[in-house]
Amino acid sequence: MIVLFSHQKGGVGKSTVAINFAYQIQKKYKDTAILDLDSQHSAILFNQLRKGESLPTIKCVTQNDINLGEFLSHYKADKSNLLIIDSGGYDSDINRTALIKADIIITPVGISQIEIFGLQKFRKILKDASEALDIKIKTNVLLNNVDSRSKSKLKDLKEYIKEKPNYFNLLNTTLYSRADYKNSYGDGLTVKEYNKKGQAQEEIKEFTKEIYKLLNN
Ligand SMILES: Nc1ncnc2c1ncn2[C@@H]1O[C@H](COP(=O)(O)OP(=O)(O)OP(=O)(O)O)[C@@H](O)[C@H]1O
Ligand SMILES: [Mg+2]
Repeated sequence: MIVLFSHQKGGVGKSTVAINFAYQIQKKYKDTAILDLDSQHSAILFNQLRKGESLPTIKCVTQNDINLGEFLSHYKADKSNLLIIDSGGYDSDINRTALIKADIIITPVGISQIEIFGLQKFRKILKDASEALDIKIKTNVLLNNVDSRSKSKLKDLKEYIKEKPNYFNLLNTTLYSRADYKNSYGDGLTVKEYNKKGQAQEEIKEFTKEIYKLLNN
């Protein structure tokens, strides 16, 4: 199976959520890996930090380490294998291939007018790819880094997502803005390892459950 974190907009939490999700879900799969397409290599760097602390790691590769076609097929074909792709925040051939091959696409978004503009742009990418290949590409929108005070903008964003059911499904889980994400990364820790009883790890757990259910539908 392939789960892709994708959004051409930068800084929305693709890498942060992908990494925490990977460590949360890995026990359910025989073989779990991360394909890091982020030009900042956030997942690779996280792995190096963990290795430095002698912490267990998940296999993490860049596109230069693999034969893309073979690698995607290995994970696509077998339900007991899971590949998590952290896509770069840009439109490119490899990111489009990932959009086509993924079993589930997740698009983290924050809450603001800029985020609505960002989603409009991403919808155009999904539309063009869907039409060019005559397939339906739909993403699951994850509200991330949410400040509980921005209620009115939240309503606008939800309305926009619901108006475009061909391209967007709004996930039930919301990830709020939590300091644990920033504080844990530098030590090579997941939010769960950093703060076992924190709200961030609780929300990542809920999010992982929701995606696992979708993968097994
Ligand atoms: N739920 C959250 N609460 C608090 N901070 C968050 C949350 N999600 C992400 N962040 C922070 O937002 C910043 C950007 O996150 P991240 O690097 O994961 O985004 P990205 O979409 O992968 O960006 P890029 O497109 O540049 O790769 C990071 O500093 C991260 O710690
Ligand atoms: Mg990133």
